[in-house]
Amino acid sequence: MTRTKVSTTMTSTKKALMTLSLAALAALPMLPTQVTAADPPPVAYPEGYRNWTHVKSMVIQPGHALFDAFGGIHHLYANKKALAGYRAGKFADGAVIVFDLLDAKSADNTVQEGARKVVGVMVKDARRYAATGGWGFEGFKGDSKTERAVGNNAAAACYQCHTAKKDADFVFSAWRP
Ligand code: HEC
Repeated sequence: MTRTKVSTTMTSTKKALMTLSLAALAALPMLPTQVTAADPPPVAYPEGYRNWTHVKSMVIQPGHALFDAFGGIHHLYANKKALAGYRAGKFADGAVIVFDLLDAKSADNTVQEGARKVVGVMVKDARRYAATGGWGFEGFKGDSKTERAVGNNAAAACYQCHTAKKDADFVFSAWRP
């Protein structure tokens, strides 16, 4: 009788302990995420990029898989370090490339620039942005220098696709002499 009682008590204690440790385990994944997932430092608005070197332009039309996200006409701009990077095939810290996306309007058998949709930015800092190939990604909505479209979603929203160009330092475009 006593034995049974003791063993019953032990069993319920064991059960309680198991429940406890399971609860602790369940809580564990939350702790490291909160403590260690340092948000990437914000990417600065690329002040003055319209005075930089124009790399190339492209029109993405309705029907293209990326139309919803990147439809319109975009121009790419490189600062001095990025220009050197295009030529070298490897980008140094401080290199900045801008993806200036505008609406594209067809009129009179021409394709013309419309309103600015987003200013996409890639800034190279191997240490700060180590988690996303050494590049910080951001998008500034419309003509705003403060409204951010990417924030902490750079890995999923930008980097994931740019990994296709890992061999070219995650840069799709190339310099045309
Ligand atoms: C689905 C794939 C895809 C996604 C997602 C994507 N990009 Fe790109 N990105 C491209 C391609 C393709 C080019 C080349 C465009 C060209 O040649 O004109 C490019 C070019 C760029 C460039 C110019 C440098 C280069 O790689 O040629 C910048 C800056 C850029 N993207 C920023 C971003 C940002 C910021 C995001 C996230 C909001 C993003 N990209 C998401 C495919 C992608």
